[in-house]
Amino acid sequence: MSKQTETRRKTVKDIAAAKGKTPLVCLTAYDAPTARLLDPHCDVLLVGDSLGMVVHGLPSTVGVTMEMMILHGQAVMRGSSEAFVVVDMPFGSYETNNDSAFLNAARIMKETGCQAIKIESGTYAAGQIAHLVERGVPVMGHIGLRPQAINVDGGFRAKGRTTGERDRVIAEARAADEAGAFAIVIEGVAEDLAADITAEVSCPTIGIGASAACDGQILVTHDMLGLFDWTPKFVRRYADLSTSINDAAAAYADDVRTRRFPDAAETYALRKPEPEQR
Ligand code: KIV
Repeated sequence: MSKQTETRRKTVKDIAAAKGKTPLVCLTAYDAPTARLLDPHCDVLLVGDSLGMVVHGLPSTVGVTMEMMILHGQAVMRGSSEAFVVVDMPFGSYETNNDSAFLNAARIMKETGCQAIKIESGTYAAGQIAHLVERGVPVMGHIGLRPQAINVDGGFRAKGRTTGERDRVIAEARAADEAGAFAIVIEGVAEDLAADITAEVSCPTIGIGASAACDGQILVTHDMLGLFDWTPKFVRRYADLSTSINDAAAAYADDVRTRRFPDAAETYALRKPEPEQR
């Protein structure tokens, strides 16, 4: 390998090898400066399609496009150098058949430089996962609460709380694992179900609202930084950025209106003429 192609980034092997060891640290990222701040702390940065809701103000992730994922994926790749970067495949880009799943996955990987893609994987998606992995696309599965399916579920609801649903989530986990997913996100399930799945599958599980029984954890970064008034039960707020931003904007507005900003230190002055050389 030449110097130019050498990389310090974690690889799919590092992620897979974390099964049962120190929990994997994963966060979402959508832009270069935030990716730069998160990169040294994270094993995985996920360019999640949650960006449709938290960055673009959409009511769900259903309206997210390939172009949005690619644009944000490129920014996160530019801002990071160590974490393993995964980009979500948006609703409608992989469900139809294996060929369109591969074309869209390959486009995301080529145009962003990311190392893997994630799909919300019902049992039907085992074919797509195997097809992609065989052709060089590492796939992260996503089971349990699948936000792209909210219109079928009637909202964001925890999964696996009845016997029938529990069996369905276990079947989703087995399907993704057997098809070759290198990791599986488990969203919105009770602890005993997450523990059973984690014990059964060969790849690491990454929980969001799925207890500490998983091999790693992921949160939506905007949630854990406290950018919204409301956060779901499973989120811990590690900062209160909405208050910080609100206070900063109010102080700036006050300074501008009272002409305290800008002051002399923030203003360019005419340069003094240089003394003539003798
Ligand atoms: O889109 C996203 O951010 C996700 C995570 C919540 C796992 O899928």
